[in-house]
Amino acid sequence: MRSTNRQVAVLLAILMSTLACGPSEGVARPVERLSGQAGAPGIGDSDFPLDGNGGYDVSHYALKLGYTPSSRRLDGVATIQATAKQGLSQFNLDLKGFKVGEVSVDGAAATFSRTGHELTVTPAAPLRQGSAFNVKVAYAGVPQPVVDSSNLGRYGFIPTPDGAFVACEPNGARTWFPGNDHPADKATFDFEITVPKGATALANGELTGKPQTSGDLTTFKWREAHPMATYLATATVGRFQLREGKTPGGIRALAAVDPKFTRSLDKLYKLSAEITDYWGTVFGRYPFSSTGGVIDDFTAGYALENQTKPLYGGFDPGEDIIAHELAHQWFGNSLSIERWRDLWLNEGFATYAEWLWAEHKGTGTSDASFRAFYERPAKDPIWTYPPGRAKPSDLFNESVYNRGAMTLHALRGAIGDETFFKLLKTWTSEHQYGNVTTEQFVTLAERLSGKQLDTLFDTWLFQPGRPAI
Ligand code: TRP
Ligand code: ZN
Repeated sequence: MRSTNRQVAVLLAILMSTLACGPSEGVARPVERLSGQAGAPGIGDSDFPLDGNGGYDVSHYALKLGYTPSSRRLDGVATIQATAKQGLSQFNLDLKGFKVGEVSVDGAAATFSRTGHELTVTPAAPLRQGSAFNVKVAYAGVPQPVVDSSNLGRYGFIPTPDGAFVACEPNGARTWFPGNDHPADKATFDFEITVPKGATALANGELTGKPQTSGDLTTFKWREAHPMATYLATATVGRFQLREGKTPGGIRALAAVDPKFTRSLDKLYKLSAEITDYWGTVFGRYPFSSTGGVIDDFTAGYALENQTKPLYGGFDPGEDIIAHELAHQWFGNSLSIERWRDLWLNEGFATYAEWLWAEHKGTGTSDASFRAFYERPAKDPIWTYPPGRAKPSDLFNESVYNRGAMTLHALRGAIGDETFFKLLKTWTSEHQYGNVTTEQFVTLAERLSGKQLDTLFDTWLFQPGRPAI
């Protein structure tokens, strides 16, 4: 699902091409429409040239999955609803590993081929520009997580002894379902996950009914009704203890912990609820229908802001990390980046949220947090790695987090508290559920403050070295 602007742009393009062609050209048009072109193998992010795909926009994924922890086998049927953005003779989906069985488009068998993680689908007849279509892909096999040698380790669908730990940023969704695996194409999701009785499957959004057990299998149905980037989708499976309810502010909440973390369940639940409510007052109304958190026993040592259900990998998260992952529900999840190079819009904001949380709790000031980093020596990554352009080979460099947060603190100093906090709320409301760029943030900051901020953003985000303060 893309922004309304884009849909308007597509409609305008269709209208203009209709108006532009004279009667003689009109004769040839139906043929041209029926032939179509191959969709690009990437969505257009030059840092990740094969991530996502061109030529269509997904609006909804319906994922029917069966997972058996003992054999690690995943059986999937993905039904994807999309709109063709051009005449399409064929198009790609991203899928890593698995044996693909049947593929159909609008119910008719389609042919397919595979190269690396690109699954190329050729429908029986080309798709017309602007038409809605659905693709069904049946697949099965043992999921192969992505192994990243730089800073992430393993990510994607990671089998654990009792299930699976599913954390996919930046491009691990392809390790468990076929799709348009890039945050520039967001969509709603339905999940139907069948696991052995005794295990719980935790996906995004809310349960649409009671889990159904038949024989030794239980099926969980979840729905995320708000647009979601593929990397935020999860189907974490294991033995879990649950606590459900509502936050004091009235948002549905669910905390789940592996039995190894029983003692953390109430704390995780209460803190997640309190922090979600508090961010609602600072960043604007909570954008989704439920909140919460999941602690699994897989010792990833990291957390991911999975939509509505941040996932903590093998540790009892402190307030700062919970504050961070829940801030992402606004910055990253509701507002998603259009290109990975703008990752500071996620991580810088979520890190700044940690500083704001400490300030709120009276355990530290954001000024003190800023100063502690500002004193770091010249060789520190925060001074050698400008955070405004995240590098594909080192996407999650700590500068993107910490100097990203420092940028916001410098901005706050320049425009004052009142404008700064108004900016945060305007940013989240103007782009709710959409995609954003750094340029748009700079423009909005200048509009609201009436100040020229090019130099501030340029020195903090794009230039190496320690900016003067
Ligand atoms: N976005 C995560 C955070 O803010 C970090 C992260 C990046 C991650 N890629 C991941 C976590 C993959 C789990 C899996 O903390
Ligand atoms: Zn983060």
